[in-house]
Amino acid sequence: MRADIMQERQKESQSEVSRLGDTPPEEFRKQLHELADWIADFREHIETVRVAPNNKPGAIREQFPKCAPEKGEPFEKILSDVDHIIVPGMVHWSHPMFLGYFGWTSTAPGILGEILTAPLNVNAMTWRTCPAATELETVVIDWLRQWVGLSDEFDGVIYDTASVGIMHALAVAREEVAPATRKLGLTDRNLPQLRIYTSDQAHSSAEKAAIALGVGEQNVIRIPSDAHFRMDVNSLGQKIAEDRRNNLQPMAAIATVGTTSTASVDPVGDIGKLCREARIWLHIDAAYGGGFAMVPEYEWLRKGWELADSIVINPHKTVFVPLDFSVLYVRDLERLRRVFSLVPEYLRGDTVEAEKNYMDYGIQLGRRFRALKAWVIWRSLGRAGVVARLREQIRLTDLLVDWIKSDDRFELSAQPSMGVVCFRFIAGIGDAGAGSPTPATAEKLDQLNSDIVERINASGRAYLTQTKLRGRTVMRIGLGNVLTTEEHLRKGWELIRETAAAVSEKSQNPKTKSQSNSNQPSPKATERN
Ligand SMILES: Cc1ncc(COP(=O)(O)O)c(C=O)c1O
Repeated sequence: MRADIMQERQKESQSEVSRLGDTPPEEFRKQLHELADWIADFREHIETVRVAPNNKPGAIREQFPKCAPEKGEPFEKILSDVDHIIVPGMVHWSHPMFLGYFGWTSTAPGILGEILTAPLNVNAMTWRTCPAATELETVVIDWLRQWVGLSDEFDGVIYDTASVGIMHALAVAREEVAPATRKLGLTDRNLPQLRIYTSDQAHSSAEKAAIALGVGEQNVIRIPSDAHFRMDVNSLGQKIAEDRRNNLQPMAAIATVGTTSTASVDPVGDIGKLCREARIWLHIDAAYGGGFAMVPEYEWLRKGWELADSIVINPHKTVFVPLDFSVLYVRDLERLRRVFSLVPEYLRGDTVEAEKNYMDYGIQLGRRFRALKAWVIWRSLGRAGVVARLREQIRLTDLLVDWIKSDDRFELSAQPSMGVVCFRFIAGIGDAGAGSPTPATAEKLDQLNSDIVERINASGRAYLTQTKLRGRTVMRIGLGNVLTTEEHLRKGWELIRETAAAVSEKSQNPKTKSQSNSNQPSPKATERN
């Protein structure tokens, strides 16, 4: 053996070997209690932290050593770094003033579910490698199916995200129009170009799937949307017909229930009828809107689902499961299994039972026990608890809409939908507000709206997003956090109004000392707000 290795092993035997294996049980118990207190304190005082950091890129990385530690460090020290480096360097999606994206949420039962999953640490690839994980997955998939009113012709599989779900759904669609692609691939087979259709408002996961599946990004055809950001079905029909005339092969259409910018809902029934006539796959992207279909007043969201081949729902967006948790439902799930089942020799003995082996339903072999956290939270809230919380989001959304409508310096930029409101500040610049603004004014308003969002986010007091609608920049609020109350929303709205006034004053009188700094955090508020 090399002398330096021998020396190192001798040293090891003095200090490290006595501590091989795991943390001693009593020490672990103490750490767990400490962690439990940390989590409870974090949750209780979350409102006191800045919603978003104001660090420069790289500032967090600089606080870590360049190399991994040579010797193990105590948990107390690690936890202290979480307090001093990680927590202040985060955007706190669980903060009640986080109003960005879809405002998804942590809940106490969700946290308990995640904690419970950690010590079990199983691999749910086959039934035999963990019967409970497999069977619970089947159970929660079916609970959700019933809650959202999807017919029992659909069965599903849990993935991490909707992007992965759509990729798998479209792999099945591809197999239907180009049989044996799983085996032979797409090249050298004289196949026509395959086409996927979705609206100009749909999520980019359609293109990502086309990239991964060899269909090609440019074969995702964006169909124009109407004044309410819903897919124009006539244009879809025309595009499919035109593609057929040009010997291109329509493969799938994707209808969205809750688009990313405005949460608009495509006319799924009409799109579905067209897909049936054209004999192409209908995938429904209900990543956001799917959860709302549980609310009786929103049952209309389910219209046309009976015509779908696949549908993806993200409970990590709207059914209170912590990220990540997305369910892909496929009518006749066996079609998905046929595309992805491939049993390696060393697992053959593990797959003899009639029960599902979820590794057969996707590219992933190793799979975590995601079903457990959903089971914990859905049992803790029950259907009624989930629906009541979604209704509260809708109530708050309506309230915000009333406030926006009653202030003529603002206008709604799209029909509010579920928990999403897009709006725009339209005052304070020349001809803005009076009829259609000139292009120059519209551009100035774009900048103004963007500045308002940037300034609010930099303040650490709230967090919203901005998006583009028909080329114009608008502010966007997504409600979804169980901790966000009417009071928080009111504070957020006041902050938007004040910031808009300050930013527009500054843009008109760049030299005057505006009140705009009032939203900048004091040095102290940078740490705690
Ligand atoms: C409508 C829609 N579909 C799909 C996705 C992708 O979701 P995921 O992050 O789960 O891949 C998003 C993301 O926000 C979305 O808004």
